[in-house]
Amino acid sequence: MAAVVAFVSQKGGVGKSTLSRALAREAAAGGLRVKVADLDTQQGTSVDWHRQRLNAGIEPSVSVEAFATAAQALGVANGFDILILDGPARTSQATLEIARAANLVVQPTGASLDDLRPAVREFHALVKAGVPSARLAFALNRIGTQAEEAETRAYLAEAGYAVLEGCLLERPAYRQAQNAGHAITETRYAALNGRADTLIQSLIDRVTNNG
Ligand SMILES: Nc1ncnc2c1ncn2[C@@H]1O[C@H](COP(=O)(O)OP(=O)(O)OP(=O)(O)O)[C@@H](O)[C@H]1O
Ligand SMILES: [Mg+2]
Repeated sequence: MAAVVAFVSQKGGVGKSTLSRALAREAAAGGLRVKVADLDTQQGTSVDWHRQRLNAGIEPSVSVEAFATAAQALGVANGFDILILDGPARTSQATLEIARAANLVVQPTGASLDDLRPAVREFHALVKAGVPSARLAFALNRIGTQAEEAETRAYLAEAGYAVLEGCLLERPAYRQAQNAGHAITETRYAALNGRADTLIQSLIDRVTNNG
């Protein structure tokens, strides 16, 4: 049975699809059988990215498919080591269904209080609905400085949640890479790839240990 990793958030554009793709890329590079279930049927951003990747002939190839619900995605989990649920924004009921299906629920968040307050509320709501808090983790995205990373970690630790090791800086190169079908670990800049890889590897470690 696959380990199921879900990316969720109430806010849009926080990095769910970005991290889904990078996790898929790195897991595939590590020899794991991995599938991204794009649950945002309106936007289908990971499906589009996958097409772009195939067209450009980028290796390793990853498998991405659109599903209407988490339950439908789980139906294909058997053939894979990791099933990644790339969730849509702003749908509490769907988020709960997605979170219940997952071994690990990752919520990307930015560093501002405007981002952090609703992000913490979202996890509190999942815990209240019965999702064990040990299955929840934050991933830090669009960080500016080391001090900002440290402050954000402290805020989320205070709220009682795990935060994945590493963080993504706000960088145009991450957008450019994804525009061309690459993952954020495949930019033209070794240092940025290394940073992204630290975050993704900490995720893979967690998933394969919990799996
Ligand atoms: N660290 C970063 N630096 C620069 N751009 C980023 C970074 N992280 C994400 N982006 C860009 O921000 C946009 C939104 O990211 P992404 O699509 O991953 O968010 P999402 O949470 O999946 O959004 P949605 O809620 O719409 O599904 C994308 O264009 C992506 O390339
Ligand atoms: Mg998305």
